[in-house]
Amino acid sequence: MEHALSSSETLSLLSLTLASFATIANTFHGDGEPLIASLAFSGIAFSSSYSMIRWLGPTFMKAGLKGKDMSKSHKKEIPETMGAVCAVVYLLIITVFVPFPFYKDFVIATSGGGNRDVVLETYTVESGRFLHRFPHSKLASYLSAIMSLQSVCILGLGDDLFDIRWRHKFFIPGIASIPILIVYFVDFGVTQVVIPKPLQPYLGSLFELGPLYYIYMAAIAIFCPNSINILAGINGIEVSQSIVIALLLVLNDCLYLFAPYPHPATDSHLFSLYMLLPFLGVSFALWWHNWYPAKVFVGDTYCYFAGMVFAIVGILGHFSKTLLLLFIPQIFNFIYSAPQLFRIIACPRHRLPRFNARTGFLEASVTPWPQPPKSYIAISLNVLHRLHLVKVVTNEQGVIVESSNFTILNLWLVWFGPRREDRLATEILSMQVVCGLLGLFVRHRLALWIFEKDNLP
Ligand code: UD1
Ligand code: MG
Repeated sequence: MEHALSSSETLSLLSLTLASFATIANTFHGDGEPLIASLAFSGIAFSSSYSMIRWLGPTFMKAGLKGKDMSKSHKKEIPETMGAVCAVVYLLIITVFVPFPFYKDFVIATSGGGNRDVVLETYTVESGRFLHRFPHSKLASYLSAIMSLQSVCILGLGDDLFDIRWRHKFFIPGIASIPILIVYFVDFGVTQVVIPKPLQPYLGSLFELGPLYYIYMAAIAIFCPNSINILAGINGIEVSQSIVIALLLVLNDCLYLFAPYPHPATDSHLFSLYMLLPFLGVSFALWWHNWYPAKVFVGDTYCYFAGMVFAIVGILGHFSKTLLLLFIPQIFNFIYSAPQLFRIIACPRHRLPRFNARTGFLEASVTPWPQPPKSYIAISLNVLHRLHLVKVVTNEQGVIVESSNFTILNLWLVWFGPRREDRLATEILSMQVVCGLLGLFVRHRLALWIFEKDNLP
């Protein structure tokens, strides 16, 4: 890969950066226009990640952060863990952005209307400059989000450096989510779920989940990062699936922005937008370098970081169920992977599709069975084979000798046959877009059949 930026790249990135800075400078009036500032910050996030991914490639390789692209004829080594660059840029950008949504509150807090010459009334002096009016709870959302993200990024880096065992890293995102759960507890504290209309005569209109609700949210924080990490192995798929989810979430947020203010959900969806726009900025920069043929790998840091961003907006935005509707392919992949994840059947270090150097196509990868499987596993595998949910190869005696790996990518190849890497990625992503749009449609239209009202106006 060419590590220096070409002159046209330099020129475009420089203009984007300058335009973004000018836009930010322009927002210091009125109520600070945080949404516009957020867009501008996302521009800076894009250009700085884009250039740093290029410049730092050789540095990462020298530090041993490199990986072999297994689905190419010449298995070249390319920089890995480039998602760490995105995560760091993102965290810095969000940290700098934090004061912007509070611009209006600062102006009120520091003497009437931002005019510092105003003579303070006695009661103002006693009550301390109206600071009690400052929305501390809103600030807490941002700070807890940053804290949770930092923990998860440390986990991701540890995994990229040392390949941490699955059972050791599995629960860490759950612990990392504690700061946001505390904010949720103080801020919302809603632990009831709305009961669908047909069940209301039996269960009432609301069902109190209590502490279980917090376990459910911690489970989301564990699920999102891990599910993105295991829907992986072909160029571009980790970043692209995250971009699709982020775009669908942005679409969902925008639906709420048209609601007449102050709609109760507006603030949470603004928070979600402020978190997602810079995420899209850093992700597009990574996508550019990770799409087929990949020039860099994203690493586990990116997968965990991306998943945690989604968990945070879903939990603090109080739309975790909508979030899960946008994770349908990942949920399927997770459930489908369960036999291998929980070691009911063998799970090789890599389950990514197999590259056939002769055809240049990807084929479903397999796990060999050196010993014949136990009878109940053999029966299950044969049933799944009949249902076209796995491909099983048997010897002349009818004993299973190999079975395809349980990932959605391999299943797609079993169903539709071998294909080129980028085509497989595009097809999986199209399926994801269709599922996501259907999910949002179900959420906002069909939900009215089973729930009394939608929270859109
Ligand atoms: C997860 C999957 C594993 C899959 C791997 C691929 C589970 C339980 N784990 O493991 O099955 O093989 O992701 O990312 O499902 N690579 C490529 N091409 C790509 C992306 C990655 O060849 O487009 C290879 C590279 O050699 C790279 C390595 O995969 O170095 C990265 O794997 P890593 O992210 O460390 O694997 P896991 O997340 O542990
Ligand atoms: Mg990974």
